[in-house]
Amino acid sequence: MLAKFPGKFYAIAHMKGIILAGGAGSRLYPLTLVASKQLQPVFDKPMVYYPLTTLIEGGIRELCLISTPHDLPRFQQLLGDGSRFGVTIDYREQAKPAGIAQAFLIAESFIGQDNVTLILGDNIFYGGDSFYKAFAEFKSGETIYGYHVNDPERYGVVEFDADGKAVSIEEKPKLPKSNYAVPGLYICDNQVIEIAKNLKPSARGELEITAVNVEYLKRGALRVQRLARGFAWLDAGTSSSLHEASAYVQTIEKRAGIKIGCPEEAAFRQGFVSLAQLEKIVGAMPNCEYRAYLENEVVAEAKRLQK
Ligand code: G1P
Repeated sequence: MLAKFPGKFYAIAHMKGIILAGGAGSRLYPLTLVASKQLQPVFDKPMVYYPLTTLIEGGIRELCLISTPHDLPRFQQLLGDGSRFGVTIDYREQAKPAGIAQAFLIAESFIGQDNVTLILGDNIFYGGDSFYKAFAEFKSGETIYGYHVNDPERYGVVEFDADGKAVSIEEKPKLPKSNYAVPGLYICDNQVIEIAKNLKPSARGELEITAVNVEYLKRGALRVQRLARGFAWLDAGTSSSLHEASAYVQTIEKRAGIKIGCPEEAAFRQGFVSLAQLEKIVGAMPNCEYRAYLENEVVAEAKRLQK
């Protein structure tokens, strides 16, 4: 692909996207007896719509969704081949919950020679354009984020020195060295496949994403950007955080009259689907609030602007 920057053209390596929607979902039991975690509703849409929208908004068109053999068919039913959103979606199985970093091995042939962004299926991001700039400007190494939370021990934790440089990353430390958690969005160059291949399983028997981040840090190839305060990162992996995420989405949607995590809208705004295609897609939906939003706020508005 050729991108135009002031005065010159140069090639940017392709960016592919992986959505990891695996895991036993044990923290959401008994809800997960009904559907897997990433299919649970977050206010008015399935959880996986949010990370899907984040990737589409970032301009990523080639996607791979990884889930358990049991749940994968449900994701296929829900998202199909991706054409509804102007993207392609490959589906791959993760036979056992053997760690986030295993995603790079499962998707090795999908990634090919390209760069890849991995997003966790239960991570919800809202606000700002940090990711989209990062996808567009990404050249090599790995880019991850730091987000201030009050319970860092639940996450990968990054420690910064006085100059704001990342100096350590630890997975779920008992005594966190900072309040900066690493959200589940990792932008990696192609080295990630080789790095993942050389990982040893951790004490809990998993290929840890934190070990990948530490390896990039050792190689001097890790960038950690702090997400601004106004940015929302919600994780919806426990009953309480699922409920809080729903409440957050409802509050913003009601106040602003927009939808968060609407992949059809994102695909249209990215130019992945035309207005005529969007109208057809919307026309096939049953009468519901979701359809009304797309009809009244997106399609009608685009038509008005065309005049
Ligand atoms: C995983 C990662 C952790 C990261 C978190 C983000 O944790 O291991 O480093 O901060 O996702 O959601 P898990 O969801 O597996 O507990």
